[in-house]
Amino acid sequence: MKFFLDTANVDEIREAHSMGMVDGVTTNPSLIAKEGRDFKEVITEICEIVDGPVSAEVISTDTEGMLKEARELVKINKNIVIKVPMTIDGIKATCRLSKEDIATNVTLVFSPLQALMAAKAGATYVSPFIGRLDDLAQDGMQLIEQIVEMYSNYAFDTEIIVASVRNPLHVLDAAMLGADIATIPFNVLGKFASHPMTDKGLKAFLDDWNKAKK
Ligand code: G3P
Repeated sequence: MKFFLDTANVDEIREAHSMGMVDGVTTNPSLIAKEGRDFKEVITEICEIVDGPVSAEVISTDTEGMLKEARELVKINKNIVIKVPMTIDGIKATCRLSKEDIATNVTLVFSPLQALMAAKAGATYVSPFIGRLDDLAQDGMQLIEQIVEMYSNYAFDTEIIVASVRNPLHVLDAAMLGADIATIPFNVLGKFASHPMTDKGLKAFLDDWNKAKK
């Protein structure tokens, strides 16, 4: 399973990268805005840190506008993936970009049929938002299960990025279902790196060691 980091914060990316936990990065307009930095500058810096797919999202809502932005964004780095919203215009843009061999990530996916359309349009990645479904008392992980089965039934190449991950259990469940990728906020990655029994055990080892030395 690949881990992407869901952030535009370069310090977080550097830290997770030093642990070998960053196979790629996903950003969105909200995450970029949070950093208060120039969009292209941040994306360029991320690409210098990580040698893997880096999703940069278009802001246009019409196909032509999306294509224009995409063609500019891909000039930044060979690893840029164009993130497009799951709309009819986004699907048209995905279809066109796929024919030009430009990698795409169809985002804001909330239903299996949206994911099916994205795959048929030739999306490289699809991003179902599980946390936001859970927020509505709908089972986000059930959506992942449906997409995994559907893509496997027809051997689609589109990779599933489990997105809107809010807690470690989301990552565990996604891994058990065989999802290709989880895009993980930095604070969630930190949560599943540690365990109270690890801390307790380490403290006991070191206390025993120090006692024996006296
Ligand atoms: O990967 C999508 C993500 O950034 C959205 O997460 O927590 O705002 O639903 P969230």
